[in-house]
Amino acid sequence: MPAIVLIGAQWGDEGKGKATDLLGSRIDAVVKFNGGNNAGHTIVIDGEKYALHLLPSGILTPGVVPVIGNGVVVDLGVLFEEVDAIEARGVDASKLVVSGNAHVIPSYNTTLDRVTERFLGNSKIGTTGRGIGPTYADKMARIGIRVQDLFDEDVLRAKVAGALNLKNQILVKIYNRKAVDVEAVVTELRAYAERLRPMVRDTALLLEQLLDEGKTVVLEAGQATHLDVDHGTYPFVTSSNATAGGACTGSGIPPNRITRVVAVVKAYTTRVGEGPFPTELLDESGERLRQAGFEFGTTTGRPRRCGWFDAPLARYATRINGVTDFVLTKLDVLTGMDEVPVCVAYEIDGVRHDEVPMTQAEFARAVPVYETFPGWHEDISKARTLEDLPRNARDYVAALEAMIRAPISVIGVGPGREQTVVVHDLLD
Ligand code: GDP
Ligand code: IMO
Ligand code: MG
Repeated sequence: MPAIVLIGAQWGDEGKGKATDLLGSRIDAVVKFNGGNNAGHTIVIDGEKYALHLLPSGILTPGVVPVIGNGVVVDLGVLFEEVDAIEARGVDASKLVVSGNAHVIPSYNTTLDRVTERFLGNSKIGTTGRGIGPTYADKMARIGIRVQDLFDEDVLRAKVAGALNLKNQILVKIYNRKAVDVEAVVTELRAYAERLRPMVRDTALLLEQLLDEGKTVVLEAGQATHLDVDHGTYPFVTSSNATAGGACTGSGIPPNRITRVVAVVKAYTTRVGEGPFPTELLDESGERLRQAGFEFGTTTGRPRRCGWFDAPLARYATRINGVTDFVLTKLDVLTGMDEVPVCVAYEIDGVRHDEVPMTQAEFARAVPVYETFPGWHEDISKARTLEDLPRNARDYVAALEAMIRAPISVIGVGPGREQTVVVHDLLD
């Protein structure tokens, strides 16, 4: 009864969607446990590209039950747009289930996300503007609207009125915007209720039943370790727990049922939005990675910031998540370089740090200490076994594996489902 957690080890966009998709029909359910439509997963199947935001990546595999867990924040308009778009392409979304405890993103929170960012000016986070932060803030402040609230109009009206009591003050008095009308929000949310109702379940109970039946469940994170609200580069983070611990709270699956923790890590590093990034390359090497890796956001289209592999950053993910296996992606993007630098430590105020420093102030001043590895020029996109990789590529992988202190079980050599080297089976 394996429950496998799959998380990102860096700042997101490591290729989690492809990694989940790879497990394919050997899994029975895929649970999204955190975040919302701030995520963007691109999956390429037989040359066809799918961009998913809110739906768990497992939806593309026939037979897999896609689950939106209680830890997710759901923009219902986006949910149904996404369902309609993939159904129009022949994907069956009828098995999708949504937790009644998941919070919904009312449009006033999308507005607040955007105006708050503008208000912050130079201190902005660089959010995706999808209302994620304000909705998680409401959840913690206990003024959130949950999926289950949509089915009782009186309950919904009372909750929306309660939230807007506070929010309208902020919108009008601080941001100089018009007040939001309670009835307009109730009407907007109720419009989804009928279509949503058959999808809504006690997903924690459903997942327990599936695990008891010996089924395989994957818990798929949005975002990544260094965007985690507790363990990431706060405040330049998202507003949820994207680390392995969040898989339990965000799904209702208890920790003692988790059998494996798979971390997806890129062969270099990228980041979208603001915040510290020690190995960032602002020169033509960064541009080369951006072009070769097609590093443009799936959600906002923003160019991703690019830099070399940061070993202490990835090793931190091993520790925080209890990683049992790594999926190393985008090794092919490094092809054609004479040398590949890797950050092995930081220098901060003249002192060497082998691990991520304790404070953000120190991390913001961290200067990478590089070790350089010989590159390779052979095309590796058709490699399917370790032996197919040129010596220098294999040595690079082995060096990273030693630094991140967990086995690299899968290596990505291209965006396609089949462009993968499996060293150890993740389901064995
Ligand atoms: P996610 O948010 O972690 O699911 O990752 P994204 O989908 O946002 O970004 C990863 C991108 O890299 C997508 O466009 C994938 O198609 C692509 N990708 C995944 N693995 C590989 C790989 O091994 N090589 C190459 N070249 N592209 C990959
Ligand atoms: P996937 O799942 C990369 C970043 C945003 C911003 C910060 C906060 O595709 O890896 P938010 O809208 O969440 O309040 O923004 O987090 N961010 C991501 N960066 N990949 C993602 O998701 C991200 N989701 C949020 O750019 O810096
Ligand atoms: Mg992404």
